[in-house]
Amino acid sequence: MPDSTPDPLTRRTFLAAGVAAATAASGANPAAAAGPADGPLRGKVAVVTGAARGIGRAVAVAFAQAGADIVGIDICAEVDQRSGVEPARPEDLEETGRLVQADGRRWLGITVDQRDMPKLREAAARAQRDLGGIDILFANAGIQSFKPLLEMDDADWHTQIDNNLTGTANAIRAFGPSLVKRGGGGGGRIIVTTSTQGQHGTLNGSAYSASKWGIIGLMKSAALELAPYGITVNALVPGLIDTPLTRHEERYAQVLQAAGRRPTGTPADEEEARKVLITGTPLRVPWIKPEDVAPVVVFLASDGARMVSGATFDVTGGVGANNAA
Ligand SMILES: NC(=O)c1ccc[n+]([C@@H]2O[C@H](COP(=O)([O-])OP(=O)(O)OC[C@H]3O[C@@H](n4cnc5c(N)ncnc54)[C@H](O)[C@@H]3O)[C@@H](O)[C@H]2O)c1
Repeated sequence: MPDSTPDPLTRRTFLAAGVAAATAASGANPAAAAGPADGPLRGKVAVVTGAARGIGRAVAVAFAQAGADIVGIDICAEVDQRSGVEPARPEDLEETGRLVQADGRRWLGITVDQRDMPKLREAAARAQRDLGGIDILFANAGIQSFKPLLEMDDADWHTQIDNNLTGTANAIRAFGPSLVKRGGGGGGRIIVTTSTQGQHGTLNGSAYSASKWGIIGLMKSAALELAPYGITVNALVPGLIDTPLTRHEERYAQVLQAAGRRPTGTPADEEEARKVLITGTPLRVPWIKPEDVAPVVVFLASDGARMVSGATFDVTGGVGANNAA
């Protein structure tokens, strides 16, 4: 049995990663604070899905600052034209690659739809060949849109379930075998992205909620199945994060509808949504920065988290304090 007490070195390097992420958020040169040479993920290869922007980009950069080489996966195209969310573009993925390389790490960007299992397996084979193996998977890509359940057509339902739930399972099925192969004595890490909306019902968001609730069941099942290989599987639970997924009119309207301030289907603007969000968030922030999410994922990917598996980790500005245990 491995010792479950993190050693001082691990604690020190994790703290260094936290400093690096905080420094990056402030715009200073993170390499000066804690370079990859002494980061907690040095020598590791990490796959990040949804890497073109948002949470995926912030985590890819934080992983690189912690010393990992990065395989960035993204569709870089429209997934759901009904969502009101601007699609990511190929230039967005290239920019993530530029940031990773600026931290001195290797980068392999692959444009692929995570619903396409054969293409995802090809991506895994390429990562294995070009970077020599995979240690960490952050299965994060996802979409969100809102529609009352009784008004949905088949595509409204399937697009979110296929993309979020099946896509996340596909990522584990495609990249998991490389983690098993590399693991040997253990050390593989999988972190999936769910949502607070995967822990409670969501007004006009049943397909999203169901997909994210399903991801928690997927994570816990994978944690049981992969434990014999020393691979841990955990879930990140973001609150409302400042990314293109949340910064558009439909999302502002949903915030106000859920707070009982607007009937379904009426428009809303950012300022009104901001006031409601600040009031409803214990730490009094409207939208959390992706850079405030990333250090938690770095920790879950590190040796210090080797006895953590099957668990959910909230970064919600305190909103999670309202949930049952
Ligand atoms: N932003 C939030 O408030 C929030 C809250 C809870 C959970 N989440 C989850 O966090 C994850 C990241 O969201 P974000 O806020 O960074 O959004 P985002 O839209 O900025 O980034 C998501 C990325 O995933 C990519 N993607 C979507 N479908 C894909 C597919 N089929 N194949 C490959 N790539 C695909 C997109 O192109 C995009 O670049 C999502 O799973 C989302 O559901 C976000």
